Amino acid sequence: MAWPWIAVCVHIFHLTAIWPSQLVLPSVEHSCGFLQLRVSSAAPGRVPDDPADSSRHSGTSREMLPILLGILLCSLAASAAPLSSVTLDYGTFTGTTNTTNGLIYFQGIRYADPPVGALRWQAPASPPSGHLGNVNATEPGFACIADTQTNSGATTDEDCLFGNVFVPIATTPNSKLPVLVYFYGGGFESGRSQDFPPENIVLGSAKPLIFVTFNYRLGQFGFLSGTPVQQSGQLNAGLLDQRAALEWVQSYISKFGGDPSRVTLWGQSAGAGSVMFHLIAEGGENKHLFHQAMGDSPPLIYLAEYNAQHTEDLFAQFAGFAGCGNAGDGQAIMACLRAASTATIATAGKNTLGNRTSTNYPIQPVLDESFLRQRPIEAFKADNFVRVPMLFGSNTDEGANWSAKLPNPSANTSSPSATETTVYNFIAGQYAGFSQTSFNEALTLYPLAVYDESFSLQGQQMFGEMRFICTALMITDAARKAGLKVYQYHYDNPILGSDHAAELSAFFDGPTSNPLFIAMQQYWTSFVTSGAPVASSSASWTQRGLNGSPRLLLHPGEVKMEAVPASLTAHCAFWHSLATEIST
Ligand SMILES: *[C@@H]1O[C@H](CO)[C@@H](O)[C@H](O)[C@H]1NC(C)=O
Ligand SMILES: *[C@@H]1O[C@H](CO)[C@@H](O)[C@H](O)[C@H]1NC(C)=O
Ligand SMILES: *[C@@H]1O[C@H](CO)[C@@H](O)[C@H](O)[C@H]1NC(C)=O
Ligand SMILES: *[C@@H]1O[C@H](CO)[C@@H](O)[C@H](O)[C@H]1NC(C)=O
Ligand SMILES: *[C@@H]1O[C@H](CO)[C@@H](O)[C@H](O)[C@H]1NC(C)=O
Repeated sequence: MAWPWIAVCVHIFHLTAIWPSQLVLPSVEHSCGFLQLRVSSAAPGRVPDDPADSSRHSGTSREMLPILLGILLCSLAASAAPLSSVTLDYGTFTGTTNTTNGLIYFQGIRYADPPVGALRWQAPASPPSGHLGNVNATEPGFACIADTQTNSGATTDEDCLFGNVFVPIATTPNSKLPVLVYFYGGGFESGRSQDFPPENIVLGSAKPLIFVTFNYRLGQFGFLSGTPVQQSGQLNAGLLDQRAALEWVQSYISKFGGDPSRVTLWGQSAGAGSVMFHLIAEGGENKHLFHQAMGDSPPLIYLAEYNAQHTEDLFAQFAGFAGCGNAGDGQAIMACLRAASTATIATAGKNTLGNRTSTNYPIQPVLDESFLRQRPIEAFKADNFVRVPMLFGSNTDEGANWSAKLPNPSANTSSPSATETTVYNFIAGQYAGFSQTSFNEALTLYPLAVYDESFSLQGQQMFGEMRFICTALMITDAARKAGLKVYQYHYDNPILGSDHAAELSAFFDGPTSNPLFIAMQQYWTSFVTSGAPVASSSASWTQRGLNGSPRLLLHPGEVKMEAVPASLTAHCAFWHSLATEIST
């Protein structure tokens, strides 16, 4: 096996000497470097079929050599796996090849200039403006700073716009593999791509795919809003980071063997909310940045206008905590904030969060009249979204434990002294504008008796449905009515729990022999690779119909299609009727 490879290498160097002006030397060297690597490390059965093989030993004449050489070089470049090193127009990135599990890991690929100094609260400058030379893409880059921090840390920094690309070892630049892009959750205030390892996804897929994750700015670094930001900066910068990452995929993923025309977006929680925002961004115009969309537990957030009083108040409070409140007009305040240290900005965000004792995630995306022009309910109702096949769903106990995290005891429904008012305070803390009248109506839909007289369970069900469960149903409803291919699921796991994010164990918690988890890996990845979710030893997943059903029940005892309960549909209709009141 080894000798023919070496022979080809020698041959090319020989030809290079004869016709140097017609050759692109770096690609010759690159191809040869690869061949040498294969000779020393190729495991049986792992060497990909090489289309150049048949021409390798045939007789050649001098006249044919330039043509043959061209074919040979193209074929070699096209089959230069493993892609342990990839050259982009702004740098060469060398990843780590794991020959045991068959994955190549490219980590910490900078996709934009550091968003610091003058670039704080600006759109990402992507791709990076300078040439980066040879980059060791062997470690995850810094994660973005969460709004619970008081400074950068050992693994977090403002300079955090890094991505990761995970490629099966047999991939060649010609493979044109489908691409799965994952956005992490964390309420737009925390989260980091390195918490989402690729093994269960890439190795759990029956057909090869490329898995891509990116960091995007969080909290006050990514979502500071208000008129001063609109005038002297960029609203929703964190979402624009994601957009830049998607454009990066379009520009560069082919170099990693990916097909830019087969990109599926995926995310969980705020990551699924992000997928939703990309569906309705820019009026829902299809910019062909992605071709399918998946979302686990997409949240319907309180989406204020960038210049609503609520938003301006948050900005003023934040600027005050940063010591910039009295700097002058909006422009002067922004200049002061840009000149402030990372620690000052981090701490000001933490203090802002600390002041909002009834709100889990105060610093959020906003309506900005440009990227986000309509709220989701309005946008989906008006058909202003990108037409792509979709897969969305949620978990049974999405609403559990959120209230218990709130420092304000009068919004903590787990407190022994909780009352109906506590439930109201909990919901209103997440959705400013929620009226007592609407709450009274909600009480008729969620009678306490149904929840064992537990205010905690009652509030949990209201919140879980209004925020996550109904959002998945709303998206699939609009997509189905638009005639798209739509799949929906319901994750219900009494053994391991069905709280928010519980289903992610199937994808990111390491090797598993759990049949439900293995089926979920197959469903999700086959949607990416073939457009239909299929698991080899599990139920057929049928598309959603116009009546709202069915959805796939993912339960450890049985996986099957189930109807969406009429009571849930009624609850969702109620919450969605409050769109204007609660800014959803
Ligand atoms: C390579 O993959 C194997 C199998 O998953 C794993 O045990 C090993 O730790 C990996 N090696 C490195 C260097 O990460
Ligand atoms: C690249 O990373 C590897 C593994 O972490 C390390 O051994 C090597 O020294 C690094 N090279 C450079 C140029 O930093
Ligand atoms: C929040 O800030 C306001 C004024 O900025 C202050 O009146 C209030 O006491 C603060 N609340 C908490 C819990 O810090
Ligand atoms: C989270 O909520 C569930 C369902 O209400 C409950 O059983 C569980 O004890 C809660 N977990 C914590 C850590 O409070
Ligand atoms: C909410 O109340 C529960 C029950 O009293 C308590 O365990 C929990 O610590 C409280 N949450 C906060 C953030 O104080």
